[in-house]
Amino acid sequence: MSKGRILVTGGTGYIGSHTTVELINSGYDVVIIDNLSNSNREVLEGIKSITGIMPDFVEADCTDLDALTGLFEKYPGIKGIINFAASKAVGESMQKPVLYYRNNLNTLMNLLDIMPDYGVKGLVFSSSCTVYGEPDVNPVTEKSPIKKATSPYGNTKQISEEIITDVINAGAPFKSIILRYFNPVGAHPSAEIGELPNGVPQNLIPYLTQTAIGIRKELSVFGNDYDTPDGSCIRDFINVVDLAKAHVIAIERMLNDKSDAPIEIFNLGTGKGLSVLQLIDAFERATEVKVPHKIVGRRSGDIEKVWADPSYANEVLGWKAETPIEDTMVSAWNWQKKLRERGIM
Ligand code: NAD
Ligand code: WQD
Repeated sequence: MSKGRILVTGGTGYIGSHTTVELINSGYDVVIIDNLSNSNREVLEGIKSITGIMPDFVEADCTDLDALTGLFEKYPGIKGIINFAASKAVGESMQKPVLYYRNNLNTLMNLLDIMPDYGVKGLVFSSSCTVYGEPDVNPVTEKSPIKKATSPYGNTKQISEEIITDVINAGAPFKSIILRYFNPVGAHPSAEIGELPNGVPQNLIPYLTQTAIGIRKELSVFGNDYDTPDGSCIRDFINVVDLAKAHVIAIERMLNDKSDAPIEIFNLGTGKGLSVLQLIDAFERATEVKVPHKIVGRRSGDIEKVWADPSYANEVLGWKAETPIEDTMVSAWNWQKKLRERGIM
């Protein structure tokens, strides 16, 4: 028997598709809304080939309140929402701030508006370690200071957290869990779904796997003069399937009235900082494929080092990132090879 219906916004995207798989595997019915601005319909086939179930899909924009209302009428009984739908490219947000504020904030506000009308009990929101900026102390806990955002994208995450807090404090008839992701990487072990960047990747792993397969000549490592053991930046790279599983736990916590407070915030990371050079090394060891790379100057705006203290999520949610980085690298590589087989890249 179904555990109930969950709406996943941005569900054909990278993290949304992996989460949809975990929700279906845990017995939920999933309705996806996505405007396909950064994903495509074939992802639905990937989800079906892993789970045996094709999720319901509505191609629409979450900033369109009428479209959302139509969805809630067509699919009654939605118990929870996981809101992934957002524009997420930090660099692009510097060029097109209005697009970012409008898309990310209007999407959230429409959802908050409509939830009480349809009796939705919980909202999971995708936030980011970007809210911590360059932390004074690592690892960062949920109580670490929030630093002034350095991009409109980052600012949408800070403002979104504040909007949700205000709405909950105003007595909203639902709960919310905010999840601050560190650096999600890798793909589903089946290689049926993964990350599909548009154009030249800005993020490390897609650039690395595209270099390994020969699409890009060389990976540029942005800086080896940071105050870190090998001079390259340090991040907390978290496996996307591990990350997806936390969303199922978060939804269940709210639907089963297990939350300790109407709004809760959790860091989702491994707790281990890995440098860019260490990550390249892990990829090469795990796949036995060399990644041509060279050291270049720093990328403007980069944080030197940030990694999570995930102990609050470990204890309270009973969730832990478990996948070894080598397995995550193999999954990213298998996904890149699958894209090649399909003639996509
Ligand atoms: P993604 O771009 O792969 O997925 C987002 C999906 O939302 C896409 O399929 C896109 O088409 C859709 N979308 C965007 N605006 C929409 C709208 N108005 N209406 C309907 N659909 C819309 O991104 P992702 O990496 O899966 O990220 C998911 C969420 O997690 C985002 O909110 C992102 O900001 C957040 N996040 C991502 C990372 C990361 O490194 N990937 C880190 C921290 C937080
Ligand atoms: C990781 C490291 C680069 C590419 C971004 C967003 C953040 C969050 C996660 C959404 C850095 C280095 C990268 C390359 C490199 N997203 N690098 N060569 O910048 O940590 O975080 O994604 O919320 O908000 O800012 O991720 O993958 O771009 O970079 O050397 O070609 O890899 O300098 O140190 P980042 P990233």
